[in-house]
Amino acid sequence: MDSHICGVSKIPFLFLTILSIGLMSVALALNPSSSSSSSSSTSKPSSTTPQTINSNSVLVALLDSHYTELAELVEKALLLQTLEDAVGKHNITIFAPKNEALERQLDPEFKRFLLEPGNLKSLQTLLMFHIIPTRLPAAHWPRHQSPHATHHTLCNDPLHFHIRGSSTGNIKLVDSAHVTRPDDITRPDGIIHGIERLLIPQSVQEDFNRRRNLRSISAVLPEGAPVVDPRTHRLKKAAAPVPAGAPPVLPIYDAMAPGPSLAPAPAPGPGGPHKHFDGESQVKDFIHTLLHYGGYNEMADILVNLTSLATEMGRLVSEGYVLTVLAPNDEAMAKLTTDQLSEPGAPEQIIYYHIIPEYQTEESMYNAVRRFGKVKYDTLRLPHKVVAQEADGSVKFGSGDGSTYLFDPDIYTDGRISVQGIDGVLFPEEEDTVPTTPGTSVKVAAKPRRGNVDCG
Ligand SMILES: *[C@@H]1O[C@H](CO)[C@@H](O)[C@H](O)[C@H]1NC(C)=O
Ligand SMILES: *[C@@H]1O[C@H](CO)[C@@H](O)[C@H](O)[C@H]1NC(C)=O
Repeated sequence: MDSHICGVSKIPFLFLTILSIGLMSVALALNPSSSSSSSSSTSKPSSTTPQTINSNSVLVALLDSHYTELAELVEKALLLQTLEDAVGKHNITIFAPKNEALERQLDPEFKRFLLEPGNLKSLQTLLMFHIIPTRLPAAHWPRHQSPHATHHTLCNDPLHFHIRGSSTGNIKLVDSAHVTRPDDITRPDGIIHGIERLLIPQSVQEDFNRRRNLRSISAVLPEGAPVVDPRTHRLKKAAAPVPAGAPPVLPIYDAMAPGPSLAPAPAPGPGGPHKHFDGESQVKDFIHTLLHYGGYNEMADILVNLTSLATEMGRLVSEGYVLTVLAPNDEAMAKLTTDQLSEPGAPEQIIYYHIIPEYQTEESMYNAVRRFGKVKYDTLRLPHKVVAQEADGSVKFGSGDGSTYLFDPDIYTDGRISVQGIDGVLFPEEEDTVPTTPGTSVKVAAKPRRGNVDCG
């Protein structure tokens, strides 16, 4: 069995040889000065980056500190660049919740909400709420309620400061959070105070509550339609009062169906536990956003002109449905022929094909097409669906010549209505080829690129 032992012992030897050759070449690559005498041994390539942050900056200190949970969130929120710019201009003061405040003491559901890619804005707002654009050392803590006792944060919402006397001494407060480690870290461009818990701005709290309601909606949606009593044309089981924003009573298609509609649910009282959703004003809000965004005037115009359609959307949102609008930009709308628009009901049909009865963001759609290849979305134009797939690192809707790209992501996202700008007008596939292109329907699918003029 000599040969066996010998064979075994050869392997580590061979391995060590390869390893040492490898290490030598790594050493050579890392340290060229050993062969060329000119360069100094301390030179590093980082000196060429255009924007460098001072190593003694409060930001560097934060990332290096024991506030590891906060530091991690700041990185996850992609805020480092913003904060670098801030400390380039002025001092900042960071109120840093201790790690436990972001671990065990935080509602896990809220934390999950913050870490969802679609809620990046909420996470950013929350973190910016912990930073003021000025230097506030503990010695200058405002003592009483006064104009000086309020500072605007980097997310604009204000924080209030005061000092409360107690038996063990004075306690510094920021909003209602105790400052447990005043002046914990001080640097030339800022200060970090340790605080005992997370500060949550009102807007983020509201986003979270809204999203939580939505989740309960999607959990209940698959239920079948309620039974209608044929004699009374009313629901057999008296529908419980449905506050807007609560689970919708009907699947969206039934909710849209013409005919004797259900008696509207009574609006909740002002003191009710649920927030009342004013879908109509939300629709107005998104149309305004579309107008101000620029490049979507045609689409906004159609929605303004077709009041019935906007009203319908508002009603659906009030009843708890969520919608994603794929909004063709002006360039795309300009390519529509008068024929396509002039038939009675044609504009409505076109728009309905661009509305998905789900809440989707760029992130959620992109993740879906990346994971699954092709994804079909229902539209409000029954029974037609719209296909999405990944293309060129973006989301492409439709197929062949009729395809369009997600062009301006997340123009409007309020948790119920999402508006995504696209660079073409979508048509259900059957119609796409039959009436518009009588002779040339076998055009080889040219690469449908942004801004490509190929649709007569
Ligand atoms: C930050 O504050 C320090 C001390 O008050 C001051 O010397 C420095 O100029 C400030 N930095 C900026 C960028 O304003
Ligand atoms: C909307 O209505 C206005 C005024 O009636 C009209 O000038 C405009 O062309 C309409 N827009 C569309 C897209 O139909």
